Formats: sequence, C-alpha cells, structure tokens
Amino acid sequence: MTRWIGTSFKMNKTLSEARAYAAGLSSALQERPELLHGVQPFIIPPHTALAAVAAELTAQSAPGEPDVPGRGSVVRLGAQNAHWEDDGAWTGEISVPQVADAGAELVEIGHSERREHFGETIETTRLKVASVLRHGLVPLLCIGEPAQVQERGETAAYILEQARGALRGLPADQLSRVLIAYEPIWAIGAQGRPATAAELREPFEVLSREYAGKVQALLYGGSVSPENALEMLLIPGVQGLFVGRAAWTLQGYLEILRIASTAEKPHVSGLG
Ligand code: PGA
Repeated sequence: MTRWIGTSFKMNKTLSEARAYAAGLSSALQERPELLHGVQPFIIPPHTALAAVAAELTAQSAPGEPDVPGRGSVVRLGAQNAHWEDDGAWTGEISVPQVADAGAELVEIGHSERREHFGETIETTRLKVASVLRHGLVPLLCIGEPAQVQERGETAAYILEQARGALRGLPADQLSRVLIAYEPIWAIGAQGRPATAAELREPFEVLSREYAGKVQALLYGGSVSPENALEMLLIPGVQGLFVGRAAWTLQGYLEILRIASTAEKPHVSGLG
C-alpha cells in the first residue's frame, strides 16, 4: 500500500522560502531514500511558487526523467485551488490548464477554508473535480464537517453528501484517480483540537464502505503532527495524511515522512 503524505503551505512562504523548502526536500529524499518506502510525498505551495518549486523539484530528479517541470520528480506537486473553466473573463482566478502549465499534477478542491470564506459549494467542487480530471490531473477533494454537525452525530451523512455531490456521475476510471481527504473542521488549524482515533473510526468506516478500492486513496487531515501521525495512519481505512502547520518546516515534514515510511501496515479490517 502506498501512503500519500503531503502538505499544503496555505497562504505562506515567499518564492525563496518555497524554493528552499523544495530544494531541501529533494536533497533529503536523495540522501535518505528509505523515507520513500511505501510513501508518495506531495507538496502544495501557493500558486505564486508553483513554477519555481516545479523547477526546483525537477532539477533534482534523475536524468532521463520527462522534461516537464514538476513531472518526473518523486514529489508530486499540487495547486491549492483552480477554476473550473479553462480560460476567460474570471479576474483573479487561475485555471486547471494554467496550474498544469506551472507544473502542478494535483489540485486541491473544497478545503473547508475555501468553503467557509470563498463561497465554495458542493456544486463548484463538482465542476472543479470534473475540470481537473478532464485535464489529466489528480483532484484532492477535501471534505469535513463543522463541530455542531459532529456534536449532533450527523457526520456520516454530512461528509457523504459532500463527497457524493462532488464525485457524482464519474465513471470508474476517473473516480480511481481521485484522492479524498477527510478533514473535520473542528480539528483544523490553531483553533482546532486534534481528533482522537476513536472519533475518526466511524467517518473512515463510512468513507471506506463507499470509496475504498474505487478512489486512489482516503487521507486524514487536521492537526496532524509527528506526535499523532502514527496513530492516525493506523486507523482502518486511512491511506495517507494531509498536513498543514506541522509540515511547514521541512524538518516537521521529514519527520512525518519517516513515521509513515516505517509504520506497520494497518490490520486488515475487511474495509480495504
Ligand atoms: P493543520 O491543517 O494541520 O494545520 O490543522 C490541516 C489542513 O487544513 O489541511
């Protein structure tokens, strides 16, 4: 099993900071290839740094790799958002072909911060997933419920509605490229509180029942840190981690990669 272990920088890092992170990551992975054991790393810088990070990752990749910035690196590069139209009068927006041109292979869609502050809806996540797939990139669909929904015990219905709405009507071959990150809103960011393994069991049971073996992987995100990464990875159904703050330093990210690359396989639970 390959575990997807990645980070979004959110609205952080200048060009030179993002470049230094990517260069440091590439050399660390060359020096310590064991960190890649069963692990697919990915990083999602701000749009401004995509091309620079792509160039940095490619510069360090093996000779003979495809000549497309960002492609051919062991580290997959992602964008934090993209518009569903390919081009046009959409001031301030960036399209999937544009982020692909800058080297992105993944596109994050529907993070709770975008749903809360920028009007992302189930319908816009559906349009974005379709565009990302149409252009041959990988959608990383984020879903997750607010605290009140969890308190009412309605998490399963809420996250299934988000996932089903965004992935509606996709043929099996397209669905198989999708990554889903379950990120309960109450567990995200400095105001969040880390979820316990017990709280994550049911959501991953529900998501595994619906999507295990059909999508590329199910990830967990929300206050992941070196302290809890192993516990999260061993929850049945969890096939990767999507990390914010704890991986904004290269040292933090490398430590989480180390934990993932040495973690035992979770017990077979019949959930896939
Ligand atoms: P956090 O962010 O790890 O800083 O809580 C997670 C996320 O928003 O994906």
